[in-house]
Amino acid sequence: MSAQSFLRGVVTIAPNAFEDVAEQLAANDESNEQTLEKILLSSFSRRLALQSVIPRLAFESSSSGPRLTLANQHKETRMAKVVLITGANKGIGFEVARQLGHSGFTVLLGARDASRGEAAAAKLSAEGSDVRPVIADLDRAPETATSLAGQIQKEFGHLDVLINNAGAFDLTGGDGPASAVSIDAMKRTFATNFFGTVEFTQPFLPLLRAAESARIINVSSGLGSVGLNNDPASPFYSVKPLGYNASKAALNMFTVNLAWELRDTKIKVNSICPGFTATDLNNNTGTQTIEEGAIAIVRFAQQTDDSPTGGFFHKDGTYPW
Ligand SMILES: NC(=O)c1ccc[n+]([C@@H]2O[C@H](COP(=O)([O-])OP(=O)(O)OC[C@H]3O[C@@H](n4cnc5c(N)ncnc54)[C@H](OP(=O)(O)O)[C@@H]3O)[C@@H](O)[C@H]2O)c1
Repeated sequence: MSAQSFLRGVVTIAPNAFEDVAEQLAANDESNEQTLEKILLSSFSRRLALQSVIPRLAFESSSSGPRLTLANQHKETRMAKVVLITGANKGIGFEVARQLGHSGFTVLLGARDASRGEAAAAKLSAEGSDVRPVIADLDRAPETATSLAGQIQKEFGHLDVLINNAGAFDLTGGDGPASAVSIDAMKRTFATNFFGTVEFTQPFLPLLRAAESARIINVSSGLGSVGLNNDPASPFYSVKPLGYNASKAALNMFTVNLAWELRDTKIKVNSICPGFTATDLNNNTGTQTIEEGAIAIVRFAQQTDDSPTGGFFHKDGTYPW
């Protein structure tokens, strides 16, 4: 069989899928091999490009043969990894959602306020990512986490990555040095950064266990390192808001304890410090962009199975506890 008749055969069997080949064959009566090779190459490279650039497009069968269509969302989500990010309506969490969405994750964009979450998710959906707003309110952690875990169970049956990013720094002036810190400010900070995060995580553990391999990322801070707080050479040495620092140290203890408990599973649990990043949390005084702040979190969300667990990392290495 000549190459020309082989191609014509393919086009006859699957006319819709190979429309482009048919058109080019019709326009090229000459059947020399170079022409045929060009037709095939352009057809297949177009398919590859479409598949990698627009992950939502997929080949589907129909009675009239295979055709390129918008993938059925349910089918697609079974293939994509699912990540839940708390506090993702702005700041570092939003940028992490953007980057993981671009790399093909199905992103559950957590926000405590429905309209802020919807607006943020709409921006990322407009960029072509599969991003869905969900309610994740650490002040109502048991209710929101249990209800969300139920929805995820129904829709996906598992969760690949949980990023505990939502966090607070008391900007009222109540947080401060050990001698003067307001106990109320400390309690508010702990309520979000520690108690809320622990309580929010627990209902998702069965879903994370059900994933092929899973990640829990607790977004911590170098300010939560006891070692750096006590090290005169550290840039953090003189930064001493006790409420925030202690809440992140407590979060680090959660990381280590949970990693120990899950040591025989495929769930990796780590604390990640994004670095000093310009966001509302610090009145935009941070020295990094949110893109830089997202680097380590995005990297750990995508790590392979032999990655570490029970560690404290930043984008350029590790921090002491
Ligand atoms: N920026 C830095 O320099 C820096 C450095 C080290 C660590 N971190 C950590 O990075 C994480 C992200 O902070 P960011 O800088 O991106 O701050 P951000 O822009 O202020 O974002 C914080 C996010 O957390 C949410 N949030 C706060 N309290 C919550 C609660 N009780 N329940 C649910 N969501 C809540 C906020 O929601 P609303 O929009 O509704 O308020 C917002 O979405 C935090 O854990 C922070 O401690 C930041």
